[in-house]
Amino acid sequence: MCGIVGYVGARPALGIVLDGLRRLEYRGYDSAGVAIVCDDELRTEKRAGKLSNLEKTLGDERFGSARADGAAARPLGRPPMVGIGDGTAGIGHTRWATHGGPTDRNAHPHLSRDGRIAVIHNGIIENFAKLVAELEADGVEFVSDTDTECVAHLLAAALTDLRAVGEPDGPQLLAAAMRRVVQRLEGAFTLLAVDAGIPGAVVGARRNSPLVVGRGVGEHYLASDVSAFIEHTRDAVELGQDQVVLITAGDIEITDFFGAPALGRDFHIDWDASAAEKGGYDYFMLKEIAEQPQAVADTLLGRLTEAGEIMLDEVRLTDQDLRDADKIFIIACGTAYHSGLVAKYAIEHWTRIPCEVELASEFRYRDPVLDRSTLVVAISQSGETMDTLMALRHAKEQKARVLAICNTNGSTIPRESDAVLYTHGGPEIAVASTKAFLTQLVACYLIGLHLAQVRGIKYADEVAAVVSQLHQVPDRLRQVLAEMEPVRQLARELAGANQVLFIGRHVGYPVALEGALKLKELAYMHAEGFAAGELKHGPIALIDEGTPVVCVVPSPAGRGVLHDKIVSNIQEVRARGARTVVIAEEGDTAVVPYADDLIYVPRTPTLLAPLLTTVPLQVLACEIAAARGHDVDQPRNLAKSVTVE
Ligand code: AGP
Repeated sequence: MCGIVGYVGARPALGIVLDGLRRLEYRGYDSAGVAIVCDDELRTEKRAGKLSNLEKTLGDERFGSARADGAAARPLGRPPMVGIGDGTAGIGHTRWATHGGPTDRNAHPHLSRDGRIAVIHNGIIENFAKLVAELEADGVEFVSDTDTECVAHLLAAALTDLRAVGEPDGPQLLAAAMRRVVQRLEGAFTLLAVDAGIPGAVVGARRNSPLVVGRGVGEHYLASDVSAFIEHTRDAVELGQDQVVLITAGDIEITDFFGAPALGRDFHIDWDASAAEKGGYDYFMLKEIAEQPQAVADTLLGRLTEAGEIMLDEVRLTDQDLRDADKIFIIACGTAYHSGLVAKYAIEHWTRIPCEVELASEFRYRDPVLDRSTLVVAISQSGETMDTLMALRHAKEQKARVLAICNTNGSTIPRESDAVLYTHGGPEIAVASTKAFLTQLVACYLIGLHLAQVRGIKYADEVAAVVSQLHQVPDRLRQVLAEMEPVRQLARELAGANQVLFIGRHVGYPVALEGALKLKELAYMHAEGFAAGELKHGPIALIDEGTPVVCVVPSPAGRGVLHDKIVSNIQEVRARGARTVVIAEEGDTAVVPYADDLIYVPRTPTLLAPLLTTVPLQVLACEIAAARGHDVDQPRNLAKSVTVE
């Protein structure tokens, strides 16, 4: 929630900050704003709505007074002052509103009373009411409804106090003032600030909210995630919890909240810049759907050693720890939760360890039974989802071991886990998760196999056989993707429907849930996923003449009973007027008489089938949303990375 960018160097900051914000806009798009330090002055601009509103307001300013092509950046007649486009240090923000509606006034940056300090923020300052009351008692008048504005005023006060006691002016002073302020804040925050009187410096701080540093040559970056600066540098530094970072053109200095020097973790970004661009597709979502064969292949790459053992990434757990696990909890939210639901079938089948899947937002409130022999698997694409992070911390407090599945190097969830398996999906920009889901499934299968292996339940050759099936998935996915035209046509036909229901059994049930989630978030339609067997216990009453029901059918070659049961369920809904859209394995002729629309996917083992059957549902949701005229990549009310509880 909220994207944050900071830059200091020799180049005009505005263009760099705006480009970074464009890449972070998936994090929130209620408003956007920038603050650039120009010649001892602060220039800010902010606008409600998408980043494009702000860009329109700024016009040619991003090019500064001297454009590379020599053309004048400003209309003739404007005084040749140093403009917002000329400053070489600045910050920018794209917002997902928490405190205060999405208006110009509440857009970030927020300024000190004298307008010389600008602050941007991601997170929630929980004690803001107390701080506001205190500042108001000192005569500060607030001009926004946000929790953030108090930080600008506190920072101004801290700078005044430090100057009053003779602290020398300069970047260090800004960092010292930030440390004073963050010691007083409760909640979750990433903060960036600039001061017109301290040019050439941006200070940042983080607690429970993401912030990474980009290391350039003679320039440095701060951002919520690396996609903001990968076109400039691939060298990054991951900050730890409760750290303050000061960037200048020549230096990066990290301390804890009390000024003690601290270290970040250097890492190299292996995504390339084009991965964060649309690459000719109309939407990021379409591009990310198309990238799934590669994303799956990359996540599998190098996982099996010559000795036939599965490799995780960062492992601070011993095989004995894994052997001791007598219970597994999977914690996750949204799409990641659905991948956990699929994982349960594979993990229990392969390891015989009881496995429960929990919504991370509910986990700690029901006081789950956890101890050191519990293995908690936290699944998160972003690695920053606050509900999942809090559930993870609760598990660790109870001494459980935590293994993370994550797509984002440098994020908080893997850092706080005992072991990590990174999905190599590359950046996922569309708010609706697609390739993250498939790669999370692959990661779950690998973890299931690894557990089975260390516990002696599966031999290397058995593991290798499943891994070899997984290696065939990218080609099968390419086949599915090549045959999506009928799904696009179907989407156009269903775009006017009032509701769409999804049914499945076994691993097809989480796929049905995922299909319904995609449709809700993108098409704003009523959509529900059901375990097919549950229909007759109530939901079948929803079916009316023409109601589309998407049926995810398991392979007839796997568990015959499963297959036959869902065929009966399809007949039941059809008998009540439903339009049945059947997703089945190629060669499954038993479903033909009951399918109004039939989409075949290639044969694959039952447990792995969600890797294929999910794809038509992603395409269906994307195309229905487009047909209904919605913004596919940035659906209303949502944000990609949910860093508040
Ligand atoms: C689904 O399309 C969503 N983007 C959402 O449900 C997402 O999966 C959820 O918020 C969890 O995010 P995470 O994987 O980054 O933790």
